[in-house]
Amino acid sequence: MGTSENIQSFRKLTSGGKLFGKVCVPGDKSISHRALLLGAIAEGTTTINGLLPSEDPLSTAECLRAMGVKISPIKKGQTVHVEGVGLDGFKEPEVILDCGNSGTTMRLILGLLVGKKNRHFVLTGDKSLCRRPMERVGRPLRLMGGKVQGRSNGNLAPLSVTGQQLHGAVIGTPVASAQVKSAILLAALTAEGPTTVIEPAHSRDHTERMLRAFGAQIEIGGEMGRHIHLTPGATLKSQSIVVPGDISSAAFWLVAGSLIPGSNLIVENVGLNPTRTGILDVLEQMGANIEVINVKDIAGEPVGDIQVMHTANLRPFNIDAEIIPRLVDEVPILTVAACYCEGVSKIKGASELRVKETDRLSVMTRQLRKMGANIEEHSDGLIVKGVSRLNGAELSSETDHRVAMSLGIASIVALNDSTMIGSDAASVSYPDFWNDLDRLRIQ
Ligand code: S3P
Repeated sequence: MGTSENIQSFRKLTSGGKLFGKVCVPGDKSISHRALLLGAIAEGTTTINGLLPSEDPLSTAECLRAMGVKISPIKKGQTVHVEGVGLDGFKEPEVILDCGNSGTTMRLILGLLVGKKNRHFVLTGDKSLCRRPMERVGRPLRLMGGKVQGRSNGNLAPLSVTGQQLHGAVIGTPVASAQVKSAILLAALTAEGPTTVIEPAHSRDHTERMLRAFGAQIEIGGEMGRHIHLTPGATLKSQSIVVPGDISSAAFWLVAGSLIPGSNLIVENVGLNPTRTGILDVLEQMGANIEVINVKDIAGEPVGDIQVMHTANLRPFNIDAEIIPRLVDEVPILTVAACYCEGVSKIKGASELRVKETDRLSVMTRQLRKMGANIEEHSDGLIVKGVSRLNGAELSSETDHRVAMSLGIASIVALNDSTMIGSDAASVSYPDFWNDLDRLRIQ
């Protein structure tokens, strides 16, 4: 069981100080999962540099190992080797596949398993994951002939999959979710006939980019490029992958550097895929002092460094359904930012936040109110009225990694010290977060 469930971890959070220096955020979580998964179903050995060595990708690696995929140890700074078993190579696991806290692991692996004929699989996860909706993946996979069952009419894990010969389909997804889109595309690799996924809005496109790099036949078309068309039949060939830093982890430093007086930070090697950079647009709306430098293309993904300096009098911002897929994981830290903007910020069209690792709209409201924040919670968003200063409080991550880190940043700018239970949840996506914070901080 991951430390995300270790609500007992405790941290004293002192207020004050400024942040100064350079920080290299760990590898992108979404790209890390995909590198392991595509490496596993390719022919040959895939090498991965910069893979995120945190709990979520480790869950993906453990599930793959249980199905006979050889993966070298995943340690910070070490190249990871994945010995691909080919598109039909997974062996029937003798154990239940444990996806831990990771929705990406469960949903993407479901897509890979439904087409593995004559094999049976059972997937589960921690308490949080067993509460998250899986029917959004089960339903389209059933349209392709998949057999997925679970609690609550197939919506909740533990889930059971009996591998079938799938057929291609044209599938419109009701939510712009990269996890749903990716599960369908992975299933489509072994279906009979082509599959088209049509999204209501663009979600992150790492799966499409990486599938193409591995040799899959994938075309993007339709109105606004929202039709993703996959024709099965190609053999996937092992690749050498370089994972850029995670912009969702960089976001904590970008907001912290903007809010904390006297701060000046350079966040290095950040992935700048346009389907992920909504946070930069919002920081611009706020009038933050952000500069993107040294942009280059690394292994098919744009990457750069981001310099951020403190800005007084940040402006409030408005975000809605259109931009949410491009910053869905950054809403908790943006809520902290909104508390310090001069005026009223509005977050709308964000009901997806309610089905993340926790109900992030509720949890952020509950925790930040303890600090004196002025937040109105709505079914699909938040209205936040900036205050001059938050107070220290007894906080809890409520087991959510992004909540832990967001509150960690809020507590620096607060008037007095705070405490947090469940601070170790950060290791789900950013194991060195608290060390980096201590290192960058000058009192
Ligand atoms: C992810 C997609 C997003 C995001 C999650 C990672 C991915 O979820 O919130 O942290 O790697 O595909 P949805 O696709 O469900 O919005």
